Amino acid sequence: MTAPPDGTLRTLRDEFTRFTMSYQFGMEELLTKINILKEEFTHLHSYSPIEHVGSRIKTPDSITAKAIRKNIPLNFDSLRAQMFDIAGIRITCSFIEDTYKVKDMLAGQHDVRVVEFEDYIANPKPNGYKSLHMIVEVPVFLSDRVQPVFAEIQIRTIAMDFWASLEHKIFYKYDGEVPQSIRDELQDAADVAGRLDVKMEHLHNEVQALDARREN
Ligand code: GTP
Ligand code: MG
Repeated sequence: MTAPPDGTLRTLRDEFTRFTMSYQFGMEELLTKINILKEEFTHLHSYSPIEHVGSRIKTPDSITAKAIRKNIPLNFDSLRAQMFDIAGIRITCSFIEDTYKVKDMLAGQHDVRVVEFEDYIANPKPNGYKSLHMIVEVPVFLSDRVQPVFAEIQIRTIAMDFWASLEHKIFYKYDGEVPQSIRDELQDAADVAGRLDVKMEHLHNEVQALDARREN
């Protein structure tokens, strides 16, 4: 990374620590929000729409590699302004409907600014990839200023997540050059996963309706 003009190694190290800390704080704010939604939803509807939440901060190596790939100048201001996934959160939901609910509940909070939203569930990628992608900006309250930070939130069902993790492994195994026959099978598996999601959601709704009738 480019050192500031008057920079010593120590200044640079401190600045880098402050840089990654702001992402860590922003991510923790979001994780708290997600946890509140999860607990409250469970209380109201007696089931959890969120099965699992994962998070990560990009490593310095991965930040550098992406900056080079995307032609982002290697300085803190440019990275802050142009790299949106230094903080990443992945939410796995039980059902398709819940992915949209969780997205809306997060996007509706007044201190969460949605910068970008991509619906790869309604419009899957050509390989079959499905997920909701949301880039958000949250304010981090530091001792001397408010630092807005970006985070990427991916929301998908367990079946979509199962598919995506296998596809990711296969993609790396073949270094991006996945043979057509495997690609066809992956596409087929994505269809099967999609059908499973619809079936599970239907079953879940049936059971919920039965429960509601029993309570009345
Ligand atoms: P980058 O963020 O630079 O990768 O480019 P982009 O913004 O065009 O990517 P996109 O928003 O489509 O994807 C961001 C992230 O979503 C990736 O880093 C992956 O974690 C995930 N993702 C996107 N497409 C796929 C896919 O086809 N397969 C799998 N397994 N994950 C994907
Ligand atoms: Mg992206």
